[in-house]
Amino acid sequence: MNAPANTVQLQRRVRELKGKRNAVILAHNYQVPEIQDVADYVGDSLGLAYKARETNADVILFCGVHFMAETAKIVNPAKRVIIPDLEAGCSLADSCDADALAKWRAEHPGVTVVAYINCTAAVKAQTDIICTSGNAVKVVNSIPRNEQILFCPDENLGQWVMEQTGRKLILWPGVCHVHVKFTAESLAKLRAKHPGAKIVAHPECLPVVRSMADEVCSTEKMIAYCQESPSKTFIIVTESGMLHRLRKEVPGKEFIAGPTNTCSCNECEYMKKNTLEKCVTALENLSPEIALDEDIHRRALVPIERMLALGK
Ligand code: 13P
Ligand code: SF4
Repeated sequence: MNAPANTVQLQRRVRELKGKRNAVILAHNYQVPEIQDVADYVGDSLGLAYKARETNADVILFCGVHFMAETAKIVNPAKRVIIPDLEAGCSLADSCDADALAKWRAEHPGVTVVAYINCTAAVKAQTDIICTSGNAVKVVNSIPRNEQILFCPDENLGQWVMEQTGRKLILWPGVCHVHVKFTAESLAKLRAKHPGAKIVAHPECLPVVRSMADEVCSTEKMIAYCQESPSKTFIIVTESGMLHRLRKEVPGKEFIAGPTNTCSCNECEYMKKNTLEKCVTALENLSPEIALDEDIHRRALVPIERMLALGK
């Protein structure tokens, strides 16, 4: 289907401004299709962190949520990092406040703190190593088995890592309000309609939902799994922005959005705050810009670099 005339015009303007500003556009897999289609790179939080670190552009227009843009600034501080909407937050990141984490850590002397990248720079600054859903198992396996690990802020990802590694982690009680909306009942009903479909779920989903999945993985790994699988139909249990790339990059197969009890798909309202119009304004004004406290920046870089050094 062709994009509406207004979308085409806005995309043209974004491309023009991108050239003028010597900008690169990095977009997360959950962004609206019209943003994904003008981006230089679309990926998961891990891929985006690597791309942000390696870019030679002067400006990074980061189309994702705030903690992702903040990570881009931390790994490549010489660049101007702008975001279409500064209000594009993350309920999971908000659930873990830096002071509360400091208290939690103090209650467990000698522990190693592993934080999911979905947290603020102030939280990252207090951790030993960062992980994403794409490398959480690898990161935890890189820590000597005799070390006790505190894992924050997503307890569902943490539980999944425990299952995968056979290690006991002490979990911060946080969840992604989007992924916990998927239920076993809604998924069972959909599966009954598509008996041959493979179920692919994000590790932020509840254990009961993950247990119904044929594959549990990060958004980037979903692409490779669906490409390589002989199956023709997939139920994708994550934010529904993911379906755009799957349909583009895995042609000839059918992708069905994972349902909740109240809706046939599931969107993150924070991810969806970014629009093409806001991309134009951000590139015109070079704002809103990500700014960081120097001390937090310096301390947050250490656990991120530790993760990036482990490789993809
Ligand atoms: P990815 O690590 O797969 O990009 O997921 C990020 C996220 O915010 C999931 O809700
Ligand atoms: Fe945060 Fe959940 Fe939205 Fe991902 S989907 S950005 S974890 S609120």
